[in-house]
Amino acid sequence: MAKVPVLEYPHIILRRKAKKVNKIDRSIQRLADDLSDTLVASGGVGLAANQIGVLRRVIAIQIPEDPEPTIYINPEIIHREGKREVHEGCLSFPNLYGILNRSMWGKVKGMDRKSKIFRLRAEGLLAQAFEHEIDHLNGILFIDHVADHENLYRHEPGPDSLGEEAVVTTNTSS
Ligand code: NI
Repeated sequence: MAKVPVLEYPHIILRRKAKKVNKIDRSIQRLADDLSDTLVASGGVGLAANQIGVLRRVIAIQIPEDPEPTIYINPEIIHREGKREVHEGCLSFPNLYGILNRSMWGKVKGMDRKSKIFRLRAEGLLAQAFEHEIDHLNGILFIDHVADHENLYRHEPGPDSLGEEAVVTTNTSS
């Protein structure tokens, strides 16, 4: 278990599609531990395997009310609804944020670390985190959803702020 470096844009692996996990073996368990440890150390909301250089479909998400990150394997969004405008960042783009649209809520399915199949309903920040991290697994980055460059902005963290992934503030629209 270790914190590992987070790859930054324009690293080519961020544009590659991650492969499905067929068997949860020791290498996948180690990847899950590295994702969790790196996410905790970075103070983000989510992290995808591509971001630590591994092209497997594994993500970690920890929204503020969670005591620790949760690992999702082969996650897929099977339904999404609504649209809201959010301000979003990414650990692979330090200090860069964008204004873009995400769903109000969605249904996600996948597998947990014990190979158990799950289906869940996610809304708000959790839905946003799933959309952002599953995009990573497909080589899609948050900047791809930003309509024009005026909606991208830099924000240098002050002494009290953490490098956040997938959240600054969220505004709901339509
Ligand atoms: Ni990201």
